Amino acid sequence: MRLIHADRHLLGIEDLKAEEIHKILNRARELRAANTAGKGEHSLAGRTLITLFYEASTRTRASFEVAAQRLGAQAVSIASASSSVSKGESLWDTGRTLAAMEPAVIVCRHASAGSTLLLARAVESVTKVTAVVNAGDGAHEHPTQALLDTLTLTDRLGDLAGRTIAIVGDIEHSRVARSNLFVLGKLGARVLIAGPRSLVPAALATLGNHVEIVRDIDAAIERADAIMMLRVQLERLAGPPPFSSLGDYARTYGLNQARAARMKPNAFVMHPGPMNRGIEIEPEVADGPTSVVAHQVTNGIAARMAVLERASAVGPWAGASR
Ligand code: CP
Repeated sequence: MRLIHADRHLLGIEDLKAEEIHKILNRARELRAANTAGKGEHSLAGRTLITLFYEASTRTRASFEVAAQRLGAQAVSIASASSSVSKGESLWDTGRTLAAMEPAVIVCRHASAGSTLLLARAVESVTKVTAVVNAGDGAHEHPTQALLDTLTLTDRLGDLAGRTIAIVGDIEHSRVARSNLFVLGKLGARVLIAGPRSLVPAALATLGNHVEIVRDIDAAIERADAIMMLRVQLERLAGPPPFSSLGDYARTYGLNQARAARMKPNAFVMHPGPMNRGIEIEPEVADGPTSVVAHQVTNGIAARMAVLERASAVGPWAGASR
């Protein structure tokens, strides 16, 4: 069953065309510049955003709520533990209930891949005015993280066509990696993925011709224009970790100062957060001059402002179906 408002929901990067990605990024740049100049636009005045999070979050939820407030919308936050989810209410019924309040957007994070598609269907069964934005569904996608990462990459590198980005760590369980693999391929970048065999299975290379598995992390670091470090998602592992100890993982795959010294002269380090300092990244690198981690967080607000405008059919998307 196709979604009626597929052009307003944002459930993943996989279905977005490069043209639409550029439109979102361009609008994010405009909104960021307007905010810096003190000329913020209240394009969502009178509208409501509901954040519905079944998993923990610091950056994503706060960033969506700040983005909504900057656009003049009201933000209402629902944590599953203190909602009727704790009484056994299903995602379908939760979605239909919130949709009946006719918010402009419901932003949802959930542990199950595909959950936001189910939520969008539940919402569409009640109202035409509400769009769903995926804030992370299991190991499937985290589209707004990839958009803010792309905004950060383009700030430093300009056009990404022909650029090389390394993604290092637990790719297998990472929705951030999947969304970035999609967006970077659509924008013409080459992606090197590196990490332990068990966390970077060979099948990941089937995600596109732009994806190359590099087993030697140092080789990946030496070739990349930017290096994205990922944490090991211990909470998504079915069994014990596939390495002897976290110390062993840090020595073999962690980004320390010695490894960072191998980077190309203008290359830089990214991390979506939360970071496990001392495991996939040493504090000296995370807080050092080549790190753009704080810039990623700042860019998250502009990227999400653009996504909220798209979801609400305002700004450059005025006239899209509502
Ligand atoms: N990057 C990210 O999704 O962070 P949070 O889990 O803090 O939202």
